Amino acid sequence: MAKSPSVFTCSACGAVHKKWAGRCDACGAWNTIVEEAPLSTGPKSLGLKGRLLPLTDLATQEAEPPRAGSGMEELDRVLGGGLVPASAILVGGDPGIGKSTLLLQAAASFARRGVKCLYISGEEAAAQVRMRAQRLGLTDAPVALGAETNLRDILTTLDAERPGLAIIDSIQTMWLDTVDSAPGSVSQVRAAAHELVTFAKRRGVAVILVGHVTKDGQIAGPRVVEHMVDTVLYFEGERGHQFRILRAVKNRFGPADEIGVFEMTGAGLQQVANPSALFLSDRDTPAPGSAVFAGIEGTRPVLTEIQALVAPSNLGTPRRTVVGLDSGRLSTILAVLEARCGIPFAGLDVFLNVAGGMRVSEPAADLAVAAALVSAREDVAIPPDMVLFGEISLSGALRPVTQTENRLKEASKLGFSQAVAPSRSKLGQGEGMRVRQMPDLAAFVGEMFGAG
Ligand code: TYD
Ligand code: MG
Repeated sequence: MAKSPSVFTCSACGAVHKKWAGRCDACGAWNTIVEEAPLSTGPKSLGLKGRLLPLTDLATQEAEPPRAGSGMEELDRVLGGGLVPASAILVGGDPGIGKSTLLLQAAASFARRGVKCLYISGEEAAAQVRMRAQRLGLTDAPVALGAETNLRDILTTLDAERPGLAIIDSIQTMWLDTVDSAPGSVSQVRAAAHELVTFAKRRGVAVILVGHVTKDGQIAGPRVVEHMVDTVLYFEGERGHQFRILRAVKNRFGPADEIGVFEMTGAGLQQVANPSALFLSDRDTPAPGSAVFAGIEGTRPVLTEIQALVAPSNLGTPRRTVVGLDSGRLSTILAVLEARCGIPFAGLDVFLNVAGGMRVSEPAADLAVAAALVSAREDVAIPPDMVLFGEISLSGALRPVTQTENRLKEASKLGFSQAVAPSRSKLGQGEGMRVRQMPDLAAFVGEMFGAG
């Protein structure tokens, strides 16, 4: 029998190609296409020999699935209010960011609350996991440990044990003996995830899969797994900062974009119940180039400090360095400042930074970014008790943003007394804040800095 030709799969997005290429057409990543054994094609035609499926209508009432809480509030909120039985969750993140630590602590919390937990490590020996548990003071929690990478053995064990929650750390180390490629390859990761997700649904076991993200996409990223699971959480943080953010990027059972904030300490991850206080904690005397943004992360208001530095450049093309924000957004705001407010940044290096290692993706941060930039350029400090929010349109107009009241409430709680918001914002009670409403960026810059 002729050997069927191998296929070429992109290790970043999982697209299948007929031949090797340097660049994946599907996702645009370079050097991510690898050769793999062909997938079996299966029988030619299925025919009508299946069983009849029970069908229901849209009006059928289904009880809300009972959720198990871990007692770790930051985790439960990101999960949408607790762990849904028979759900599959992917926790992705850079190596060394603290995924194993987080999940060991989560397993212990769930176990203490009576959820039967199984923690399968494919990366560390049981003794190593036990050592970590000892260091974290979790040895009293009834978590069952296993160190294994063979999925057949793992599934057999899960079927016999029937835990409420199984943690697989990590999906890249698991292998199926029916798939003819190395652990960590796209076919193995996809097949292993498929087996585990199917098992979760059939047997009512919640599974959490850990997946490493690699910057260059050489190892199969968990991106191919994202489509299969119910919930995708990313554990992120800047290197050198102790803060870690668990972010829901997809959740079939709760709001996406919800975040949980943790701090990595010598004794594991500590929850941070009030992230605003933490992200603003080391603000000293008012300095030019600093503006406080009243943002919303998921359902929760979070205040962050935006810092800008503007200095004369000796380069032909001045530097634009951004940490924690989108660099395209910075270019847009610089262009609007130049075109609509007459404040040029040509010949100036611009550095922009969100303090504390936080990432801000809301367009509502535009006004705070512009304020920090102009404040740095004009060397005029923004009052330390002021928060700002508002989206800047290309015309220079300020657009109202959502949840104005929540933003003001959080700012007031943290001792801020004045705010700048777009005109037509729904202020509600105002929360005792002095709110200045601005129609456009030029008016704001003129009033605040006397510039433009
Ligand atoms: P780990 O959970 O092993 O990361 P991952 O599973 O995502 O690869 O975490 C490793 C890092 O966390 C390591 O650099 C040390 C740090 N760490 C602490 O700072 N304190 C602790 O109590 C623990 C357990 C780890
Ligand atoms: Mg790990």
